[in-house]
Amino acid sequence: MRAAIVGTGAIGRVHARLIADLGGELVGVCGRTGQAAAAFSKAPAYDDFNLMLNEQKPDVVHVCTPNRFHAEQTIAAFRAGAHVLCEKPMAVSTQEAARMIEAAEATGRIGAVAYCYRGYPIVRELRTRVREGAFGEIWRVAGAYLSQDVFETSAYQWHFTPGLCGPSYALMDIGIHWFDLVQYILGEPVETLSARFNTRRPKRTWLGGPGQGPRPDGIPGSDGGIDVGVGLEEQADILFSLRGGASGTCSVSVVSPGNANHIAISVDGSSAGFDWQQEEAATYVERGSGHKILRYRDKSRLDPAEQAVILTGPGNPDGYLEAFRTVVAESWAAMQGEAGQEYPSFGAGLIGLELVEAAISSASSHAERSIEVSPERFRRAYQL
Ligand SMILES: NC(=O)c1ccc[n+]([C@@H]2O[C@H](COP(=O)([O-])OP(=O)(O)OC[C@H]3O[C@@H](n4cnc5c(N)ncnc54)[C@H](O)[C@@H]3O)[C@@H](O)[C@H]2O)c1
Repeated sequence: MRAAIVGTGAIGRVHARLIADLGGELVGVCGRTGQAAAAFSKAPAYDDFNLMLNEQKPDVVHVCTPNRFHAEQTIAAFRAGAHVLCEKPMAVSTQEAARMIEAAEATGRIGAVAYCYRGYPIVRELRTRVREGAFGEIWRVAGAYLSQDVFETSAYQWHFTPGLCGPSYALMDIGIHWFDLVQYILGEPVETLSARFNTRRPKRTWLGGPGQGPRPDGIPGSDGGIDVGVGLEEQADILFSLRGGASGTCSVSVVSPGNANHIAISVDGSSAGFDWQQEEAATYVERGSGHKILRYRDKSRLDPAEQAVILTGPGNPDGYLEAFRTVVAESWAAMQGEAGQEYPSFGAGLIGLELVEAAISSASSHAERSIEVSPERFRRAYQL
């Protein structure tokens, strides 16, 4: 694949590595400045995204910019004939996401969302086992996505700069991964939810460091910093139900001390349960009446179609980069026309944003909200 990247930050570097690893050719990199793009790699560097599209005509564009740019860059890439692998959240609103899906359909291109945690072999194994009925009827789903990204009072990320992040921070930034994973593993949509949002540090100071983005509006203080009032949630607690009748809770925070990237999922079913967490992604705990077993990856419990794309053999601990690589490899295979290839679709990205918007509405009104996803739309979005 002739691939281009827009956005030269932390996740852009991961994408560059995976593109190289998958034998792709990096044909262009677009940054906020040409200098940032030139420092990023040896590929042709741009600060004008449309110029890069016109000159390089990439097969695929990896969109790795702050959230608010995803929609316009994705639509421009589709119109230039490229497929798109877009970082999550795929957009900052459901309206934008719908426009992106329309553009994909109009141009016959494929849009995939970088739901990288789907690529862990154990996540695949759990999904297969749920489908086979190993846990019975699903009753309870709980867990958390906790990070300390902005725990420090002095921490500032572009997410705080008005307009760059969208209408939600913690839930849309990391919680969206958790809900995608749960819907992916269990094969059912979230149907209703009640949310509580909290902002723990209502004032942040932009100092212009890496990852802090462009200067926000405001008058600099004596340290050159600009104070920004934070309106978005740093903690989101969600009580929800799934279509099949399960209910549960998810706690999401970007101010959780000591938790660098803690993703945990715990499920009880009518015959067994399981617990998985991303920091120990190569194992899970299976629970039955009166016992708990630590399980390692086992070929016999994995769908044979999925074994092919997983690079490492069982017994080798599975890492974040391999998981991400699997998701990019599958998305590229779909873009290259492989029939029936699974990948995180824009349809799934849209459902995630519907959930975020329902949670925002619930948190502000203190009322339960429904998410209207027909069985057919969910089936298509999650390729069931
Ligand atoms: N899949 C994941 O788990 C994961 C992890 C981290 C980030 N992300 C997502 O990736 C995106 C980027 O996050 P990040 O952590 O890399 O942020 P970052 O701040 O490290 O990088 C963003 C980069 O985009 C550049 N940029 C800003 N506006 C631009 C524009 N108009 N054109 C070109 N470049 C522009 C910035 O200069 C910066 O280099 C976000 O949407 C984020 O949610 C996803």
